[in-house]
Amino acid sequence: MKHFTSISDVADLDQLVSDAMAFKQNPQLSNAGDKKKVGLIFLNPSLRTRLSSQIAAQNLGAEAIILDIGKDGWALEFEDGVIMNGNKAEHIKEAAGVMGRYFDVLGVRTFPLLQNRNEDYSEKLLNAFIEYAGIPIVSLESATRHPLQSLADLMTIKEHWSKPEKPRVVLTWAPHIKPLPQAVANSFVEWMNKAEVNLTITNPEGYDLSPEFTEGVSITHDQKEALKDADFVYVKNWSSFQEYGKVLSQDSSWTIGNKHLSLTNNARVMHCLPVRRGLVIENEILDGPNAIHLDQSENRVYAAQAVLNELLK
Ligand code: CP
Repeated sequence: MKHFTSISDVADLDQLVSDAMAFKQNPQLSNAGDKKKVGLIFLNPSLRTRLSSQIAAQNLGAEAIILDIGKDGWALEFEDGVIMNGNKAEHIKEAAGVMGRYFDVLGVRTFPLLQNRNEDYSEKLLNAFIEYAGIPIVSLESATRHPLQSLADLMTIKEHWSKPEKPRVVLTWAPHIKPLPQAVANSFVEWMNKAEVNLTITNPEGYDLSPEFTEGVSITHDQKEALKDADFVYVKNWSSFQEYGKVLSQDSSWTIGNKHLSLTNNARVMHCLPVRRGLVIENEILDGPNAIHLDQSENRVYAAQAVLNELLK
């Protein structure tokens, strides 16, 4: 593995999931990070990714150094060839180049501005770090994907499923007051497509994800129909891809509660977090026996550890 920015970087998915599970059994299994440094760079807020990646690096014996670059670093210029006479003090060429000299692996969290679809989907920021750092880059969530989350999600589904047949997994849109990225949903679809599951996506009209991710996947705008006999329900809001970055609906009938759960096969309910209680998922679910969102968050440590181990060893 050279970088970890999408499932395309993973040569053997079963092995990576199995490694993550082994690290969960024994976090001190590998010292691949001995005498090495992992940089974790955040251009927007994080609780889980930040803490789980730091713990993962430390479990491997590496020193993890975090920089909230949007807050503590110089404002970065990503455009090439510009005269930097505005408020951007440092170019990504130097910033990433310097970090490449300091660290053995660099984790980077970028984000979409949700204004220009082509620009966001070109992954300009993440690709600039890859181009100029010259060391392995781990996506800590980018404009279009969140692969560490997806690896933890897949691990969690495997932990909660012991039957020989494939589980029926439903990714459902849920309402939110703010325009959110499509990254978690895109990535979940990408990873589920490579896993032994039957995936259905359900969302209101106007919220279909990019065909780049959903080609060949069953999509329905009828949430009740989708939820029938589901074994896992992954709940997530995303803003419109078609009317890029817009909030087109706040229909509360899509908020997942017990009446939705009753349609399923006693499904486990998943969310990547942070979740707005009562808006995205009802308290009765989050506080009930079917919620496995904390398992997903716990597994973020071991997903990150499996990936960092690959890149550090
Ligand atoms: N799920 C997730 O990435 O959480 P954070 O944004 O808190 O890192």
